[in-house]
Amino acid sequence: MKVTVVGAGAVGASCAEYIAIKDFASEVVLLDIKEGYAEGKAMDLMQTASLNGFDTKISGSTNDYAKTANSDIAVITSGIPRKPGMTREELIGINAGIVKTVSSNLIAHSPNVILIVVSNPMDTMTYLVHKTTDLPKHRIIGMGGALDSARFKYRLAEAMEAPISDIDGMVIGGHSDTGMVPLTSHATRNSIRVSEFLSEDRLEQVAADTKVGGATLTKLLGTSAWYAPGAAVSALVQAIACDQKKMFPCSTFLEGEYGLNDICIGVPVILGRNGIEQIVDIPLSDTEKNKMQESAAGVTKTNSLLSL
Ligand code: LAC
Repeated sequence: MKVTVVGAGAVGASCAEYIAIKDFASEVVLLDIKEGYAEGKAMDLMQTASLNGFDTKISGSTNDYAKTANSDIAVITSGIPRKPGMTREELIGINAGIVKTVSSNLIAHSPNVILIVVSNPMDTMTYLVHKTTDLPKHRIIGMGGALDSARFKYRLAEAMEAPISDIDGMVIGGHSDTGMVPLTSHATRNSIRVSEFLSEDRLEQVAADTKVGGATLTKLLGTSAWYAPGAAVSALVQAIACDQKKMFPCSTFLEGEYGLNDICIGVPVILGRNGIEQIVDIPLSDTEKNKMQESAAGVTKTNSLLSL
């Protein structure tokens, strides 16, 4: 199993590290445009192998896509991250050009690749890959919901003073401060609805904190987060590589599911060796349906800024 990670910045490197630590891939190629940078990160990571106990071979490449040839999975993290006070949508101008070039280079060397898009604004970048490449839709996956759901579980556990392993919950919708739809009515603690433990106000606060999860970290760190994004990507890569059939909310091209068309947005999907093997169309409450429609309207507005 060969995995390429484009962008050796904080998210890309942390993603490569988590993939290696989980030790399911034979090879990870890190690629970056900055001379020597990916090679340096790869060497540093390889020097953790004997300490962390993995056999995954990590190598680096300065923009040489020949080294990525025949990748089974490729992750696109390239582009600029947001600075404090910026929205993900403001990155569109620069990142659209980068994502278009990167995806076409990857596909040219790995025609069977499954692409995972992380660059922001992620739902729009996923849509761009869908519109500008010939890849079938099950091989184009946007990573946002897995991260937002992890942040949701963190906030729920914090509010209930419960261990995170007791919590289950999902965030669907757009990967943006206003677009996320945390499914509070479906979230559970050991199969008991969280509303049994938390007041409506506290649950609303949890949902609000979840939605600005990325912005909160950007403010604290001065740039966008990397550990949880890297871990979330590695979980998707593992689900595909190991054919786990695990369910994650991911951004995918919709054709009528959730009443939406011609859009990539976060919904629950089953991930296995073929990429997105199924879109899970769960019934939503009227409030959730409305929130999903509003979220889709926001993503469509950002999509309209693309020059396709
Ligand atoms: C975040 C970026 C990866 O939410 O979108 O941290």
